[in-house]
Amino acid sequence: MQKKYASFSGRMLMIGFGAVGQGSLPLILRHIDMQPEQIAIVTANELGKAIAAEYGVRFRVEPLTRDNYVAILARELGPGDFLVNASFDVSSVALIEWCQQHGVLYIDACIEPWPGGHTDTSVPASRRSNYAYREAALALRGKFASGPTCVLMHGANPGLVSHLVKQALLNLAGDLGVDAGAPRSREDWGRLAAQLEVKVIHVSERDHQVSKVNKGKDEFVNTWSSEAFCGESLQPAELGWGTHERNWPHDAREYGFGCGSAIYLDRPGVATRVRSWAPHEGSFHGWLISHGEAISIPDYLSVRENGKVVYRPTCHYAYHPCDDAVLSLHEFSGNGWRFPPRQRLLREEIGSGFDELGVLLMGHKKGAYWYGSQLSIEETRKLCPHNNATSLQVNAPYIAAIAWSMKNPKAGILEPDELEYRAILEMSAPYLGKLVGAYTDWTPLAGRGSLYPEDIDASDPWQFRNFRVT
Ligand SMILES: NC(=O)c1ccc[n+]([C@@H]2O[C@H](COP(=O)([O-])OP(=O)(O)OC[C@H]3O[C@@H](n4cnc5c(N)ncnc54)[C@H](O)[C@@H]3O)[C@@H](O)[C@H]2O)c1
Repeated sequence: MQKKYASFSGRMLMIGFGAVGQGSLPLILRHIDMQPEQIAIVTANELGKAIAAEYGVRFRVEPLTRDNYVAILARELGPGDFLVNASFDVSSVALIEWCQQHGVLYIDACIEPWPGGHTDTSVPASRRSNYAYREAALALRGKFASGPTCVLMHGANPGLVSHLVKQALLNLAGDLGVDAGAPRSREDWGRLAAQLEVKVIHVSERDHQVSKVNKGKDEFVNTWSSEAFCGESLQPAELGWGTHERNWPHDAREYGFGCGSAIYLDRPGVATRVRSWAPHEGSFHGWLISHGEAISIPDYLSVRENGKVVYRPTCHYAYHPCDDAVLSLHEFSGNGWRFPPRQRLLREEIGSGFDELGVLLMGHKKGAYWYGSQLSIEETRKLCPHNNATSLQVNAPYIAAIAWSMKNPKAGILEPDELEYRAILEMSAPYLGKLVGAYTDWTPLAGRGSLYPEDIDASDPWQFRNFRVT
């Protein structure tokens, strides 16, 4: 008998049923005291239909659009019900606004725009950013002051990594002999990060899962959504910008609105490579794909004195997807960002490997500290059906946040950083494989001794400028 995290008597509508939807459904039915008849899926294609049938959940192909979403939501949901958004190409802000107006709980794993939102060049790059989407979602707090709980962006990253940062800060404090006390508020956490002199946080992911079937021509292969990955990879490269930074990247821009925790580079994330480190892989080259956590974490940890920010870490994603996705990304770039006609979600055909996803805290007295999850495909298969290691790292914290919301149904609009980190980690941990903490003296500046080490793209000035740890 698996532990129940919450019980729920309302209706649940899941929008979209791909890697997140299919992988989280078994966890929802396992850990939330509710019946399959309470759940309905509305999605854009037949993907996952057999899995919905296996669990006895109603499944309907009916893509949401600007014109029909209000009618669909009104048909499926009412006060006290739950909207689980596991789609892309459906405006999160439109759904959230409807849910707030109608007393419906809400979660997503990414703040998504309507189709084409990432690539509409009639909109300035700063407004096609995760920064802008987050600002728009948070602005709804002003309109719906005491609304139902709405959890934004709560998968692995964004999501779990906000809680890993907190645990990593406490671990680091313990190892440095710093009395961290019991931080509760954002000010407490910011002051702790400042006291520990954490200057840079990478969300560092190396997906080692290997398929038995190689990527073919004109095919995008990934361990989660190829479409959503390509969409976000074309957003400008965005990163939280630390108060210690002294070198302004040549193509960096400020947004000119909002909280000011981040900047963007005037080029897409898929064209921005960064170096990072993970315990198994060691040093690696990843992509600076734009993600919400690169904006929310540094915002949350900002320390202000007399209204002025006196401490904030630099923060960004450094993603090395699985090898077949790297080849897919390479082909996608070579084709001038033309999305290939075929996509393949790697799950059953994965032969071996694992995903290591963690946070790398740098600049402090112990050099760099990585804390995160190493989850193998073999362990994943024992833990939960319809997942690979990547999706289980996403779906465990996703359903933990769903359960948390059911127990705290009137908490309003929240980001991952604002949920109770310990509760989320406790519910997610059984599905995260090994939780590993590792120190290293590695820095992104290693290798600068020789001007053109082989693994550095010398045409990319960003590589030479970033993350000067002063
Ligand atoms: N935070 C994280 O760690 C994390 C990780 C993975 C995915 N995500 C996000 O979660 C979302 C889902 O990702 P995924 O990997 O499951 O994607 P997927 O491509 O595997 O599945 C997406 C689903 O959405 C459906 N869909 C597309 N357009 C729709 C529409 N107009 N109406 C209804 N359904 C529609 C598709 O049919 C599909 O079933 C994306 O926004 C993605 O960026 C976040």
